[in-house]
Amino acid sequence: MQLHPELRSLHTNGALTESEWENTHFSSDAIGLLLSNPNDYIDSLGPEWDADLDTLPFNALAHLARYLPQLQEPKAPLREALRSTLEKHADEKVELIIEAGCSVGADLHTLSQKARRVIGFDAYITPLRYALKHITGQSFSIPQRNEGRGFSFAENELSPQRLSNVSLICADALDPPFLPECADIVVAMNLLDNVPCLAMYLSKHQSNLYGEYVQ
Ligand SMILES: C[S@@+](CC[C@H](N)C(=O)[O-])C[C@H]1O[C@@H](n2cnc3c(N)ncnc32)[C@H](O)[C@@H]1O
Repeated sequence: MQLHPELRSLHTNGALTESEWENTHFSSDAIGLLLSNPNDYIDSLGPEWDADLDTLPFNALAHLARYLPQLQEPKAPLREALRSTLEKHADEKVELIIEAGCSVGADLHTLSQKARRVIGFDAYITPLRYALKHITGQSFSIPQRNEGRGFSFAENELSPQRLSNVSLICADALDPPFLPECADIVVAMNLLDNVPCLAMYLSKHQSNLYGEYVQ
C-alpha cells in the first residue's frame, strides 16, 4: 500500500510523514497498522498476528466462517442497499471513499467502481488479510464451522477481483487515521453496533467529511 496524502499521524495529528510511514508496522502481507499502540495490538493478538492463514486459532476461524461467505453473495440485500444508495447520492466517480469496518471486503468491489481511490480499514487484521487476498485475485479456502470447535474448508468459487484502486489498513474507527475533510464518502456497513460509543464514532467520522477534528 502507498502513503496516501489523507493519512493522519496519530501522534502529531498532521499528515503522516514519509518517515512515520516507513516506521509503521506492517503485517507479513504488508497491511499497515495505523494504531496508536501497534506493539500492544500485536502483543494482544499473540501468534495470530503473523500466523499462516492455515494455522489460525479458533476465534479467528469462527470470525472468518461468519464473514467470508458474504463474498459469495454479492447480491445480498445489504450489498444491494449500498449499491442503490451510492447510485442515488453519487452519480459520478468521486476521488476518495473510506470504508470503516470493511472486514473481508464484501463491499470493496462496489466502492471501487464509485471512486478513483478507496481505503478500507478494520480494527481486526485477520479478515483484512483475506480482503487483501480477495482484491488481489488470490484463491483461498473458506472455513465452515462444523459441530463444536471443528471446521472444514471449502475452496471458494469467487470470481477474481483485482482492484488496483483499493488500499487496506488496520485502524480503529474511534481514532481514525485520516485528516479532516479528506474523504468524499465514508461508508460503515454493520459497524455501529460494534462500536461502544456511538456519539464519538459519528463525530470523528463526520470530521472526515465536514471538517473540525473532534478529540
Ligand atoms: C459486523 S462486521 C461488518 C463487516 C462488513 N462491513 C459487512 O458489512 O459485512 C463489523 C466489523 O467492524 C470491525 N470493527 C469493530 N470495531 C471496530 C473499530 N473500532 N474500528 C474499526 N473496525 C471495527 C470488526 O472487526 C468487523 O470486521
